[in-house]
Amino acid sequence: MLGLLSYTMHMRTFHFGQAGFEGFLAKEAGACLEKGPGWVLSSARHVDLCFAHLSFMDPVELRGSAVNALAGALADYFFETSKDLRYDAVWPLCFESAASQGLSARRQSVEAAFREKTGRMARVMRLAEPGRPGLGPAQGLFVYLADFGRAFACRDAWGGGQRRMSDDPQAPSRSYLKVEEAYAVLRESPQAGETVVDLGAAPGGWSYSAAKRGAEVLAVDNGPLKGAAKDNPLIRHAQEDAFKFQPAGRADWLFCDIIAPPERSLELLLRWVENGWCRKFVVNLKFGRTDPFPLLRRVEAELAPRCTVLRPRHLYHDREELTVPGIARIA
Ligand SMILES: C[S@@+](CC[C@H](N)C(=O)[O-])C[C@H]1O[C@@H](n2cnc3c(N)ncnc32)[C@H](O)[C@@H]1O
Repeated sequence: MLGLLSYTMHMRTFHFGQAGFEGFLAKEAGACLEKGPGWVLSSARHVDLCFAHLSFMDPVELRGSAVNALAGALADYFFETSKDLRYDAVWPLCFESAASQGLSARRQSVEAAFREKTGRMARVMRLAEPGRPGLGPAQGLFVYLADFGRAFACRDAWGGGQRRMSDDPQAPSRSYLKVEEAYAVLRESPQAGETVVDLGAAPGGWSYSAAKRGAEVLAVDNGPLKGAAKDNPLIRHAQEDAFKFQPAGRADWLFCDIIAPPERSLELLLRWVENGWCRKFVVNLKFGRTDPFPLLRRVEAELAPRCTVLRPRHLYHDREELTVPGIARIA
């Protein structure tokens, strides 16, 4: 078994997000020591980042060229760091891997071997809940395979709230997954009887998501609603220009997923918040091939002071876009 000294803390933070976006993640995390597909090792301590799905606080780096060796090193780390911990409730056990080919199968083998090796802590392992923790700080065991023989691990992590959502075969678009994920980040979702204005609603994935929770939706889009959003008794369709649309009264929710320059969508959101036209919002900003940081700086400078909660995120289901869920400060 390895001694505690083997786990000397280097005050580093390891972040992972979506593969292909590690350049943005490195810029946001700052003080980048190393990066790979979807991950960044930094000597800075920032968390609550837009591009990070999970941040490992003071990770250790473990190596082992064979599955058994890597799983053994992980088990040793787990035993050693469990000595001062009490396990009297469910705790997160999270295994993730970089997007390189074959690494996901390797991760599954390492996790299975780790579970075998930790059999002597059966009571503790029965309390382990597999998967990512939710938003905010979490204690558990967090493992990321950066390569076939190299893993980062830690006991304290910070979750951005992003996660893969399960599809609903009735949802008229894949976009549905984004708004569902945004609720998890915001820790709020539309409730029965609430009102939602959905700008750029067609074919209706976001509207359907709100209506299936019992909210009343006004879906604004010149395009047609489809599938379970079309003729839905809780969804009214207005064929109008979303940028000119003004609500009759305050809506509980503003949704906006318009294909438009992201600055335009952000300005639209600012207008809604400044006018008190919505309390909560989920707005998608499609930055495409442009630099998202000027946009993020405007979100921070102009929107944040007007909100009680604001969590811009590059979601698991986002591509070249980011999603801004928040709650407006209502006077
Ligand atoms: C990505 S889709 C929205 C998908 C939708 N969130 C869903 O879940 O099905 C973008 C939509 O924005 C609409 N759109 C673009 N410009 C608009 C405008 N000025 N006013 C209203 N809708 C607009 C398009 O017609 C398109 O249906």
